[in-house]
Amino acid sequence: MNNLPTISHLQIVPDEYRKAPNAQDVATLIEIKNLSLNIDQQAIFSNISIPIYSKHINVLIGPSGCGKSSLLNAIIRLTDFTKDAHLQGEILVANKNILNPNCNLIELRKKVAMIFQKPTPFPMSIYKNFEIPLKEHGVKNKIDIAAKMQSALKSVGLWKEVKDRLNKNALSLSGGQQQRLCIARALTLAPAALLLDEPCSALDPISSQIIEELLLELKQKYTILVVTHNLSQAKRIADYVAFMWYVNQCGRLVEHNEAAIIFNKPSNPLTSAYVQGVTG
Ligand SMILES: Nc1ncnc2c1ncn2[C@@H]1O[C@H](COP(=O)(O)OP(=O)(O)OP(=O)(O)O)[C@@H](O)[C@H]1O
Ligand SMILES: [Mg+2]
Repeated sequence: MNNLPTISHLQIVPDEYRKAPNAQDVATLIEIKNLSLNIDQQAIFSNISIPIYSKHINVLIGPSGCGKSSLLNAIIRLTDFTKDAHLQGEILVANKNILNPNCNLIELRKKVAMIFQKPTPFPMSIYKNFEIPLKEHGVKNKIDIAAKMQSALKSVGLWKEVKDRLNKNALSLSGGQQQRLCIARALTLAPAALLLDEPCSALDPISSQIIEELLLELKQKYTILVVTHNLSQAKRIADYVAFMWYVNQCGRLVEHNEAAIIFNKPSNPLTSAYVQGVTG
């Protein structure tokens, strides 16, 4: 551990927003530009610029506490619920800065859905898990609700497993099934992007593999941003990777590029040490 690269290597971090060299023509749905977060005057992360590529799997890696979850929360303005939290910079979603005070948060959270580490089904029937959010978004007709539920459950490969138990409590499903139900519930609102914060860390290897395969399929239609601590998982699913580290407890972006470059030929020795498991 003595010969670890030092934080001074961070000087090569691009502070400005920059696309990966081989992705100049790839569309971006979300653009994080010079974003900083302070909570109660403490810098949580600073000057983060990352393009999130449309219809690709974008993965965020980095050690515990470097601000990955906080960054995901910022994208759907969950940070608004934290007392004394201040975001500076820009987060463009479909070219609109969602940090603008006039941003319609209901529309934003419909366009960008969040899946958390621990599955979060409502503690009620599988059917109600779909009916409630759909009704809230104006879908009142039972036939429409059933059709949207069925289509979403099919797209996460859960329909056959649950079609005969739609009135059973969603908490009676296994952890992996609950996580797929939460993804299906998010899909019924037709989001453009899915943010997933360590979606497999509470799951067994087989359920994790099912979620990974699902994400690889979903990227054909959705923009995906995943936080994971599992580097093997990142290698299996990522198209693009952003690597964060911290300096004096404040998260910084070290490097962002195509997954193959981050894992095989990163520019920064700190990235190299992290992806080889030497540090972190
Ligand atoms: N509501 C809050 N109030 C004060 N500090 C917070 C709050 N939320 C997060 N932090 C701090 O921000 C830093 C980053 O936390 P965050 O949860 O974003 O890290 P992370 O990279 O997701 O870590 P992990 O990999 O362990 O999930 C931590 O030091 C944490 O204590
Ligand atoms: Mg986290």
